Amino acid sequence: MQTITVHASQAYPIWISHGLLAECGTLVRQQTKAQTAVVVTDDTVNELYGDTVTAALEQSGFRVLKFVFPHGEASKCSKTLNEIYDFLCGNNLTRTDCLVALGGGVVGDITGFAAATYLRGMDYVQIPTTLLAQVDSSVGGKTAIDLPGGKNLVGAFKQPVCVLCDPDTLRTLPRKFLADGMGEVIKYGMIWDEKLFALLEQYDLDRIHEVMDQVIASCVDIKRQVVEHDEFDTGERMILNFGHTLGHAVESYYHYVTYTHGSAVAAGMCMMAKKTCAEDVYQRLCRCVTAYELPTKVPAPMAELVPLCGNDKKRASASLRFIVCQHIGKAEIRSMPFTEFAAWMGGEQA
Ligand SMILES: NC(=O)c1ccc[n+]([C@@H]2O[C@H](COP(=O)([O-])OP(=O)(O)OC[C@H]3O[C@@H](n4cnc5c(N)ncnc54)[C@H](O)[C@@H]3O)[C@@H](O)[C@H]2O)c1
Repeated sequence: MQTITVHASQAYPIWISHGLLAECGTLVRQQTKAQTAVVVTDDTVNELYGDTVTAALEQSGFRVLKFVFPHGEASKCSKTLNEIYDFLCGNNLTRTDCLVALGGGVVGDITGFAAATYLRGMDYVQIPTTLLAQVDSSVGGKTAIDLPGGKNLVGAFKQPVCVLCDPDTLRTLPRKFLADGMGEVIKYGMIWDEKLFALLEQYDLDRIHEVMDQVIASCVDIKRQVVEHDEFDTGERMILNFGHTLGHAVESYYHYVTYTHGSAVAAGMCMMAKKTCAEDVYQRLCRCVTAYELPTKVPAPMAELVPLCGNDKKRASASLRFIVCQHIGKAEIRSMPFTEFAAWMGGEQA
């Protein structure tokens, strides 16, 4: 088993190992004195792993309760959050009990936010079951729900007491979601770690499972380092947004339907690399992205994507900060007045 310790405002271990779900009770018991553990999960993940986790927690002496909501981003909302609060209240949960987020980023984000706010804060454990959640959303303590006006608009920083990553759970993940997570994995290689990138170049979406624990550990360790330097996202943490400036524009242009987040980020990375990198770097990135069944570009014209970069509230005079990787494994933050950015990118073909 690999252990990576995050030294944020609260230090916590991230454990990565095959078969961890069945052993989660012993590990969670080391991190909390809670009597009751509330497993929060979605219907799909509950069907697959709910019983295993419940049994493991019960064997370690927890009283286990379970709250299950419908899968999908639409559930990451105030209605589900209020149902979670009512469930905790109805079952007399105390501040010394704990929540267990079992699922993808949707489950992790809403459970983390409930833990940050219920009774002014209680412990929670992350058991991420998507690749995106294992390499990204379960690490770093960002929690949130969506509002009708936008994603992640209400949230809090709340670090978990531990994170348990079991790569075996990714075997049941639909291909689309595995590819989606690979978008973020490739991003880590680009911004931080040429060796990771070179490893990814040797595999594809079918064979990556062979080295998944190594891949997860590399990504988690990169996120750990970034988060330790900038826990509250005031500077360096922004390099994690490589590919996201154009990626968000792609998601928005296609109304969050045509492209998953990871595929929009993949296209965003390639579009930015085309503008800023030497041809060989751009070609390496495109080959890698293609091997993981992700797009290197989108049909939308760049001139229509650029106005969607940054958030809607950006004034034309405001600076846009974005990430450039001229070399594989190294990221830099650049800043440009929005109008200049629009002129600079505008003439490009997406
Ligand atoms: N907090 C952060 O730092 C952070 C970072 C990135 C993304 N996010 C958030 O993460 C969310 C996206 O997360 P996601 O991509 O994991 O989506 P998700 O949680 O919706 O999971 C995707 C789908 O996979 C299913 N699933 C999960 N694990 C499975 C498994 N092992 N086998 C089969 N099916 C499984 C789920 O039921 C769901 O239908 C977004 O809301 C995003 O805002 C948060």
